[in-house]
Amino acid sequence: MTPTLKTSRLLLRPLELADAAQIQALFPHWEIVRYLRNAVPWPYPPDGALQYVRDMALPAMARGEAWHWTLRLRTEPEQIIGFISLIKGETENRGFWMGLPWQGRGLMSEACDAVTDYWFKVLKFPTLRVPKAIANRASRRISEKQGMRVVATEERDYVGGRFAAEIWEITAEEWRAQRKSAVR
Ligand SMILES: CC(C)(COP(=O)(O)OP(=O)(O)OC[C@H]1O[C@@H](n2cnc3c(N)ncnc32)[C@H](O)[C@@H]1OP(=O)(O)O)[C@@H](O)C(=O)NCCC(=O)NCCS
Repeated sequence: MTPTLKTSRLLLRPLELADAAQIQALFPHWEIVRYLRNAVPWPYPPDGALQYVRDMALPAMARGEAWHWTLRLRTEPEQIIGFISLIKGETENRGFWMGLPWQGRGLMSEACDAVTDYWFKVLKFPTLRVPKAIANRASRRISEKQGMRVVATEERDYVGGRFAAEIWEITAEEWRAQRKSAVR
């Protein structure tokens, strides 16, 4: 069972089927999808969120292969504002997007710290790796702030095209040390 996580401003609620409608309303914007993997269909179909939640995300959670949360402000818990995921595997262990009206307030940085703690402290994986397009400056900044390192560069296919990408990594030990020293 994936638990609800809390940060100072956010609730991270485990994904449910009923969330699909709000995700459909928030997610399909070019600014959100252009640096996401080209597995995301584009143009986004009218039932894209339902298909993703029902056929991919919830089954992966049930198999214990992924942990997906919707993000909500504590002050307005019925409104979904973004999405964050942890995923078992070699190089793509975390993914996220924030609805346009809520970007630039430090909220994803907050959510990322909470799920990264969950990855290491609860799920007890030894390493977290995430690929990001080099042009995706906001996403890279989050990895930088978390004390992650670039371990590889490669070209990857995104919704917006084929771009240079970096694989960022942090180990459980580095995360623990970073959390002790960080002033956030
Ligand atoms: C990446 C994303 C989730 C960031 O969400 P957010 O809530 O706006 O992030 P934060 O407010 O926590 O900001 C993260 C950092 O990036 C910086 N940043 C934001 N936009 C930026 C930009 N266009 N260029 C450079 N830095 C930027 C912020 O200033 C902040 O750094 P700081 O704390 O040093 O000031 C959001 O931009 C998004 O949804 N992008 C589309 C989806 C996506 O690309 N997901 C990641 C795929 S790898």
